[in-house]
Amino acid sequence: MLDTIEKFESQVRGYVRAFPAVFDTADGAWLTASDGKRYLDFFAGAGTLNYGHNNPVAKQALLSYVQRDGIQHALDMATTAKIDFINAFQRLILQPRQLDYKLQFTGPTGTNAVEAAIKLARKSKQRTHIVAFTNAYHGHSLGSLSLTGNQYYHEQFYGSHNNVSHLPFDGYMGEYDTSRLLEKMLDDASSGLPKPAAVILETVQGEGGINVASAEWLRRVAQICAQRDILLIVDDIQVGNGRTGEYFSFENSGIRPDIVCVSKSLGGGLPMSLVLLKPEVDCWLPGQHTGTFRGNNLAFITAAALLNQYWQSNELSTTIHQHGRIIAQKLNGIAARYTQRGFVARGRGMVWGLDVKDGSLASRITRNCFSQGLVIETAGATDQVVKLLPPLTISETELLSGLNILNAAIDAAVSGGVDSQPRPLPLVACCTAAIMV
Ligand SMILES: Cc1ncc(COP(=O)(O)O)c(C=O)c1O
Repeated sequence: MLDTIEKFESQVRGYVRAFPAVFDTADGAWLTASDGKRYLDFFAGAGTLNYGHNNPVAKQALLSYVQRDGIQHALDMATTAKIDFINAFQRLILQPRQLDYKLQFTGPTGTNAVEAAIKLARKSKQRTHIVAFTNAYHGHSLGSLSLTGNQYYHEQFYGSHNNVSHLPFDGYMGEYDTSRLLEKMLDDASSGLPKPAAVILETVQGEGGINVASAEWLRRVAQICAQRDILLIVDDIQVGNGRTGEYFSFENSGIRPDIVCVSKSLGGGLPMSLVLLKPEVDCWLPGQHTGTFRGNNLAFITAAALLNQYWQSNELSTTIHQHGRIIAQKLNGIAARYTQRGFVARGRGMVWGLDVKDGSLASRITRNCFSQGLVIETAGATDQVVKLLPPLTISETELLSGLNILNAAIDAAVSGGVDSQPRPLPLVACCTAAIMV
């Protein structure tokens, strides 16, 4: 069945190369392929399925909405679905955290939210420059690509590095506090860094290799920005929606970003993106940033149902922290077993990475996992980090079973064992090989 994909789909296809199965149904933390094989999902749609596949609450809400002919498309006209979502988001997320944000609905993918955020920052501050960070990942449309660090995604002909400078993220230079460099360069008229409209960051860099910014570093960056009339944008697309334990990933630091981008798990698997803006930043003219699919009514329905189910109390947060401790303990144990290879575990809440310092080893590990029924991806500049993003709703038994598969896969990969199933090379290696041929 994969022949159809290989024959007709563009070479740009990626994950199908890493996970060569034809998936058919999914439920909670499980995927089932057309041949009946079941896979435990530690990838969760790259952070889109925090509430699990076909979450029953979202599914029921969606089925009844469709059954009663609820409106599916309305551009940005008012709908009951949208109003219910806004009210739930205000009541359950913004008000309890004393956050005063306007909501802007953009096109449904994460990159649309980032595009809107940087456009608005530039318009609001009447400056063109943006500061992003090393290993940042903000998407692939040309504006967001300019902020994305990894050279693999860039071609000089895209002209995509305009008006952006990348400075070192927290931890990029070991113990050195990189916020000091940001501050110095901003204050030095001869540094070559134009005064930016905004600084954009992920509090935990997901695609960049699970690099965790400390709360102190985030506070210093926020203060540096505020003192210089520079907007702070937090891209919470991958690590928001509860991934780190709290709804927003920046909550533990106490910072209040001027703009926040949210997407992925917001709609529980249905595409939806949201930009949160401090009211004073909201200088758009009516319809000035538009798009046919801004505001997906089906996703408003699932999003509101999920907020009501999981964010009325702190039960989910507590579970995320408990599960996070289990993951941390397991990964730290593995890293301790392989100190001579320099393995390091990093993460917060339920986003974790095991840096095995070698992209081909990481790929052997994920291949071994896949052959044993665990879907898990790599991240980082050279794909050297095995990345764990299980659904937040996974049971402890499922979590432990996935961690055990991973543990065995690592031991087998380190001792040179690879799964018996032949399988294409992972994305980057595969494309590099193709170029070299
Ligand atoms: C932090 C972050 N920002 C933006 C994006 C882009 O989102 P999308 O792929 O939906 O355009 C991603 C995707 O992984 C992401 O992780």
